[in-house]
Amino acid sequence: MSNPINHVENKTVIITGASSGIGEATAKLLASRGANVVLGARRTERLDQLASEIEASGGKAMARAVDVTNGESVEALVYHAKNMFGRVDAIFNNAGVMPLSHMAELKTDEWDNMINVNIRGVLNGIAAVLPIFKEQGIGHVINTASIAAHVVAPSAAVYCATKYAVWAISEGLRQESENVRVTIISPGVVETELGHDITDETGKEMLKQFRQIALSPDAIARAVLYALDQPADVDVNEVIVRPTASAF
Ligand SMILES: NC(=O)c1ccc[n+]([C@@H]2O[C@H](COP(=O)([O-])OP(=O)(O)OC[C@H]3O[C@@H](n4cnc5c(N)ncnc54)[C@H](OP(=O)(O)O)[C@@H]3O)[C@@H](O)[C@H]2O)c1
Repeated sequence: MSNPINHVENKTVIITGASSGIGEATAKLLASRGANVVLGARRTERLDQLASEIEASGGKAMARAVDVTNGESVEALVYHAKNMFGRVDAIFNNAGVMPLSHMAELKTDEWDNMINVNIRGVLNGIAAVLPIFKEQGIGHVINTASIAAHVVAPSAAVYCATKYAVWAISEGLRQESENVRVTIISPGVVETELGHDITDETGKEMLKQFRQIALSPDAIARAVLYALDQPADVDVNEVIVRPTASAF
Protein backbone atom coordinates (compact mmCIF):
# COMPACT_ATOMS: atom_id res chain seq x y z
CA MET A 1 0.00 0.00 0.00
CA SER A 2 1.39 3.44 -0.92
CA ASN A 3 1.82 6.10 1.76
CA PRO A 4 -0.94 8.72 1.95
CA ILE A 5 0.01 12.18 0.63
CA ASN A 6 1.67 14.29 3.32
CA HIS A 7 0.54 17.91 2.89
CA VAL A 8 2.62 19.01 5.88
CA GLU A 9 6.06 17.99 4.67
CA ASN A 10 8.32 20.97 3.85
CA LYS A 11 5.64 23.48 4.87
CA THR A 12 6.96 26.41 6.90
CA VAL A 13 4.75 26.89 9.94
CA ILE A 14 5.19 29.73 12.42
CA ILE A 15 3.98 28.88 15.92
CA THR A 16 3.51 31.53 18.62
CA GLY A 17 3.39 30.38 22.23
CA ALA A 18 5.77 27.56 21.32
CA SER A 19 7.67 27.62 24.63
CA SER A 20 5.16 25.40 26.45
CA GLY A 21 1.87 23.54 26.34
CA ILE A 22 -0.11 23.33 23.11
CA GLY A 23 2.42 25.29 21.03
CA GLU A 24 5.32 23.09 22.11
CA ALA A 25 3.40 19.85 21.48
CA THR A 26 2.29 21.11 18.05
CA ALA A 27 5.84 22.11 17.10
CA LYS A 28 7.10 18.61 17.93
CA LEU A 29 4.31 16.85 16.04
CA LEU A 30 4.51 19.02 12.90
CA ALA A 31 8.31 18.79 12.81
CA SER A 32 8.06 15.00 13.09
CA ARG A 33 5.88 15.12 9.91
CA GLY A 34 8.51 17.11 8.02
CA ALA A 35 7.34 20.70 8.54
CA ASN A 36 9.86 23.51 9.07
CA VAL A 37 8.73 24.95 12.38
CA VAL A 38 9.43 28.52 13.44
CA LEU A 39 9.11 28.84 17.19
CA GLY A 40 8.12 32.13 18.82
CA ALA A 41 7.59 33.13 22.48
CA ARG A 42 9.34 35.29 25.08
CA ARG A 43 11.23 32.56 26.97
CA THR A 44 14.03 31.96 24.50
CA GLU A 45 15.89 29.37 26.58
CA ARG A 46 12.80 27.13 26.33
CA LEU A 47 12.57 27.76 22.59
CA ASP A 48 16.26 27.04 22.01
CA GLN A 49 15.95 23.80 23.97
CA LEU A 50 12.90 22.76 21.92
CA ALA A 51 14.60 23.66 18.61
CA SER A 52 17.64 21.57 19.63
CA GLU A 53 15.42 18.60 20.52
CA ILE A 54 13.59 18.83 17.19
CA GLU A 55 16.83 19.06 15.22
CA ALA A 56 18.36 16.17 17.18
CA SER A 57 15.43 14.02 16.01
CA GLY A 58 16.00 15.01 12.38
CA GLY A 59 13.48 17.88 12.15
CA LYS A 60 13.92 21.48 11.07
CA ALA A 61 13.30 24.29 13.55
CA MET A 62 14.18 27.92 14.10
CA ALA A 63 13.62 29.78 17.38
CA ARG A 64 13.21 33.52 17.88
CA ALA A 65 12.00 35.72 20.71
CA VAL A 66 8.66 37.35 20.02
CA ASP A 67 6.25 39.42 22.04
CA VAL A 68 2.94 39.02 20.20
CA THR A 69 1.59 42.25 21.70
CA ASN A 70 4.16 44.13 19.62
CA GLY A 71 3.40 44.24 15.89
CA GLU A 72 7.02 44.92 14.90
CA SER A 73 8.23 41.96 16.92
CA VAL A 74 5.75 39.65 15.15
CA GLU A 75 6.69 41.10 11.75
CA ALA A 76 10.36 40.37 12.53
CA LEU A 77 9.51 36.75 13.39
CA VAL A 78 7.65 36.31 10.11
CA TYR A 79 10.41 38.08 8.16
CA HIS A 80 13.06 35.75 9.59
CA ALA A 81 10.93 32.68 8.88
CA LYS A 82 10.58 33.70 5.22
CA ASN A 83 14.27 34.54 4.96
CA MET A 84 15.32 31.21 6.38
CA PHE A 85 12.87 28.89 4.62
CA GLY A 86 11.95 30.94 1.51
CA ARG A 87 8.20 30.97 2.16
CA VAL A 88 5.60 30.94 4.92
CA ASP A 89 2.80 28.41 4.54
CA ALA A 90 0.98 28.83 7.83
CA ILE A 91 0.90 30.73 11.09
CA PHE A 92 -0.47 29.19 14.28
CA ASN A 93 -1.48 32.21 16.41
CA ASN A 94 -1.53 30.31 19.66
CA ALA A 95 0.08 32.50 22.35
CA GLY A 96 -2.38 33.25 25.13
CA VAL A 97 -2.85 34.13 28.79
CA MET A 98 -5.71 33.42 31.20
CA PRO A 99 -5.54 35.30 34.53
CA LEU A 100 -9.06 34.41 35.71
CA SER A 101 -10.86 36.65 38.20
CA HIS A 102 -14.31 37.99 39.00
CA MET A 103 -14.90 41.35 37.35
CA ALA A 104 -15.63 43.01 40.70
CA GLU A 105 -11.98 42.49 41.65
CA LEU A 106 -11.16 45.16 39.01
CA LYS A 107 -7.92 43.55 37.89
CA THR A 108 -7.84 45.94 34.98
CA ASP A 109 -4.14 45.40 34.21
CA GLU A 110 -4.88 41.70 33.73
CA TRP A 111 -7.87 42.52 31.48
CA ASP A 112 -5.58 44.72 29.37
CA ASN A 113 -2.94 41.99 29.16
CA MET A 114 -5.53 39.41 28.02
CA ILE A 115 -6.80 41.81 25.37
CA ASN A 116 -3.26 42.57 24.22
CA VAL A 117 -1.98 38.99 24.06
CA ASN A 118 -5.13 37.07 23.11
CA ILE A 119 -6.67 39.54 20.63
CA ARG A 120 -3.95 41.96 19.49
CA GLY A 121 -1.47 39.09 19.34
CA VAL A 122 -3.71 37.24 16.87
CA LEU A 123 -4.29 40.41 14.83
CA ASN A 124 -0.54 41.10 14.74
CA GLY A 125 0.07 37.58 13.45
CA ILE A 126 -2.57 37.94 10.76
CA ALA A 127 -1.26 41.36 9.67
CA ALA A 128 2.29 40.05 9.40
CA VAL A 129 1.46 37.10 7.13
CA LEU A 130 -1.33 38.38 4.89
CA PRO A 131 0.97 40.34 2.51
CA ILE A 132 3.12 37.20 2.08
CA PHE A 133 0.07 35.00 1.54
CA LYS A 134 -1.20 37.49 -1.07
CA GLU A 135 2.13 37.35 -2.90
CA GLN A 136 2.23 33.55 -2.72
CA GLY A 137 -1.47 33.18 -3.65
CA ILE A 138 -1.88 30.72 -0.79
CA GLY A 139 -1.57 30.48 3.00
CA HIS A 140 -3.17 29.21 6.18
CA VAL A 141 -4.05 31.11 9.37
CA ILE A 142 -4.73 28.89 12.38
CA ASN A 143 -5.90 30.65 15.54
CA THR A 144 -6.30 29.16 19.00
CA ALA A 145 -9.67 30.16 20.41
CA SER A 146 -11.22 27.90 23.07
CA ILE A 147 -14.48 26.42 24.29
CA ALA A 148 -14.42 29.83 26.02
CA ALA A 149 -15.33 31.18 22.56
CA HIS A 150 -18.64 29.31 22.93
CA VAL A 151 -19.58 29.48 26.62
CA VAL A 152 -19.05 32.03 29.39
CA ALA A 153 -18.33 31.16 33.03
CA PRO A 154 -17.83 33.20 36.21
CA SER A 155 -14.19 34.35 36.61
CA ALA A 156 -13.72 34.05 32.86
CA ALA A 157 -15.73 36.97 31.48
CA VAL A 158 -12.79 38.86 29.97
CA TYR A 159 -10.93 35.70 28.91
CA CYS A 160 -14.09 34.47 27.17
CA ALA A 161 -14.53 37.90 25.55
CA THR A 162 -11.04 37.65 24.07
CA LYS A 163 -11.75 34.17 22.72
CA TYR A 164 -15.13 35.21 21.27
CA ALA A 165 -13.15 37.95 19.54
CA VAL A 166 -10.63 35.44 18.16
CA TRP A 167 -13.57 33.38 16.85
CA ALA A 168 -15.16 36.44 15.17
CA ILE A 169 -11.87 37.66 13.67
CA SER A 170 -11.16 34.20 12.26
CA GLU A 171 -14.64 33.79 10.80
CA GLY A 172 -14.51 37.28 9.24
CA LEU A 173 -11.11 36.60 7.71
CA ARG A 174 -12.38 33.29 6.35
CA GLN A 175 -15.34 34.97 4.67
CA GLU A 176 -13.06 37.54 3.04
CA SER A 177 -10.44 35.06 1.82
CA GLU A 178 -10.47 33.10 -1.40
CA ASN A 179 -6.98 31.60 -1.21
CA VAL A 180 -6.20 31.75 2.48
CA ARG A 181 -7.45 28.93 4.66
CA VAL A 182 -8.58 29.88 8.17
CA THR A 183 -8.91 27.42 11.01
CA ILE A 184 -10.11 27.98 14.57
CA ILE A 185 -8.75 25.51 17.11
CA SER A 186 -11.01 25.45 20.17
CA PRO A 187 -9.61 23.32 22.97
CA GLY A 188 -11.51 22.29 26.07
CA VAL A 189 -9.44 21.95 29.21
CA VAL A 190 -5.82 20.97 28.56
CA GLU A 191 -3.05 20.32 31.11
CA THR A 192 -0.58 23.16 30.43
CA GLU A 193 1.00 26.13 32.20
CA LEU A 194 -2.00 28.31 31.29
CA GLY A 195 -3.34 30.05 34.39
CA HIS A 196 -0.10 29.72 36.38
CA ASP A 197 -0.22 33.51 36.73
CA ILE A 198 -3.73 33.70 38.25
CA THR A 199 -3.62 36.14 41.20
CA ASP A 200 -7.26 35.89 42.27
CA GLU A 201 -8.26 33.17 44.79
CA THR A 202 -11.66 32.53 43.12
CA GLY A 203 -9.90 32.27 39.76
CA LYS A 204 -7.42 29.75 41.19
CA GLU A 205 -10.30 27.66 42.53
CA MET A 206 -12.11 27.81 39.16
CA LEU A 207 -8.98 26.55 37.40
CA LYS A 208 -8.63 23.70 39.92
CA GLN A 209 -12.22 22.64 39.17
CA PHE A 210 -11.70 22.91 35.37
CA ARG A 211 -8.49 20.88 35.52
CA GLN A 212 -10.06 17.89 37.25
CA ILE A 213 -10.39 16.47 33.77
CA ALA A 214 -7.88 17.71 31.25
CA LEU A 215 -6.46 16.60 27.92
CA SER A 216 -2.81 16.27 27.05
CA PRO A 217 -1.57 19.07 24.72
CA ASP A 218 -0.88 16.32 22.15
CA ALA A 219 -4.63 16.01 21.57
CA ILE A 220 -4.73 19.62 20.35
CA ALA A 221 -1.54 19.20 18.32
CA ARG A 222 -3.27 16.39 16.40
CA ALA A 223 -6.17 18.74 15.58
CA VAL A 224 -3.74 21.30 14.15
CA LEU A 225 -2.05 18.58 12.12
CA TYR A 226 -5.45 17.45 10.78
CA ALA A 227 -6.30 20.96 9.56
CA LEU A 228 -2.87 21.54 8.01
CA ASP A 229 -2.74 18.15 6.37
CA GLN A 230 -5.74 18.78 4.07
CA PRO A 231 -5.32 19.60 0.39
CA ALA A 232 -5.28 23.35 -0.44
CA ASP A 233 -8.96 23.41 -1.49
CA VAL A 234 -10.15 21.99 1.84
CA ASP A 235 -10.49 24.45 4.71
CA VAL A 236 -11.20 22.96 8.12
CA ASN A 237 -12.89 25.96 9.73
CA GLU A 238 -13.08 24.91 13.37
CA VAL A 239 -12.05 21.97 15.47
CA ILE A 240 -13.44 21.75 19.01
CA VAL A 241 -11.59 19.22 21.15
CA ARG A 242 -12.94 18.51 24.64
CA PRO A 243 -12.16 15.82 27.18
CA THR A 244 -14.82 13.14 26.65
CA ALA A 245 -16.13 13.56 30.20
CA SER A 246 -16.45 17.36 29.88
CA ALA A 247 -20.02 18.60 30.37
CA PHE A 248 -19.51 22.14 29.04
N1 LIG B 1 -4.84 24.91 28.44
C1 LIG B 1 -6.15 25.01 28.21
O1 LIG B 1 -6.97 24.43 28.93
C2 LIG B 1 -6.66 25.82 27.04
C3 LIG B 1 -8.00 25.69 26.66
C4 LIG B 1 -8.46 26.45 25.61
C5 LIG B 1 -7.62 27.32 24.94
N2 LIG B 1 -6.32 27.42 25.33
C6 LIG B 1 -5.47 28.36 24.59
O2 LIG B 1 -4.34 27.67 24.10
C7 LIG B 1 -3.29 28.59 23.84
C8 LIG B 1 -1.98 28.01 24.36
O3 LIG B 1 -2.04 27.95 25.77
P1 LIG B 1 -1.50 26.70 26.62
O4 LIG B 1 -2.68 26.08 27.25
O5 LIG B 1 -0.58 25.90 25.83
O6 LIG B 1 -0.76 27.49 27.82
P2 LIG B 1 0.77 27.77 28.13
O7 LIG B 1 1.49 26.48 28.33
O8 LIG B 1 0.76 28.76 29.26
O9 LIG B 1 1.30 28.46 26.80
C9 LIG B 1 1.05 29.82 26.52
C10 LIG B 1 2.11 30.31 25.56
O10 LIG B 1 1.86 31.66 25.22
C11 LIG B 1 3.09 32.36 25.25
N3 LIG B 1 2.89 33.78 25.49
C12 LIG B 1 2.21 34.39 26.49
N4 LIG B 1 2.30 35.72 26.36
C13 LIG B 1 3.03 35.97 25.25
C14 LIG B 1 3.49 37.15 24.60
N5 LIG B 1 3.19 38.37 25.04
N6 LIG B 1 4.24 37.01 23.47
C15 LIG B 1 4.56 35.78 23.00
N7 LIG B 1 4.16 34.64 23.58
C16 LIG B 1 3.42 34.73 24.69
C17 LIG B 1 3.88 31.69 26.37
O11 LIG B 1 5.28 31.85 26.16
P3 LIG B 1 6.25 32.87 26.93
O12 LIG B 1 5.72 33.01 28.31
O13 LIG B 1 7.58 32.16 26.83
O14 LIG B 1 6.20 34.11 26.11
C18 LIG B 1 3.51 30.22 26.13
O15 LIG B 1 4.36 29.66 25.18
C19 LIG B 1 -3.73 29.91 24.49
O16 LIG B 1 -4.21 30.78 23.48
C20 LIG B 1 -4.87 29.49 25.40
O17 LIG B 1 -5.77 30.55 25.64
C21 LIG B 1 -5.81 26.69 26.34
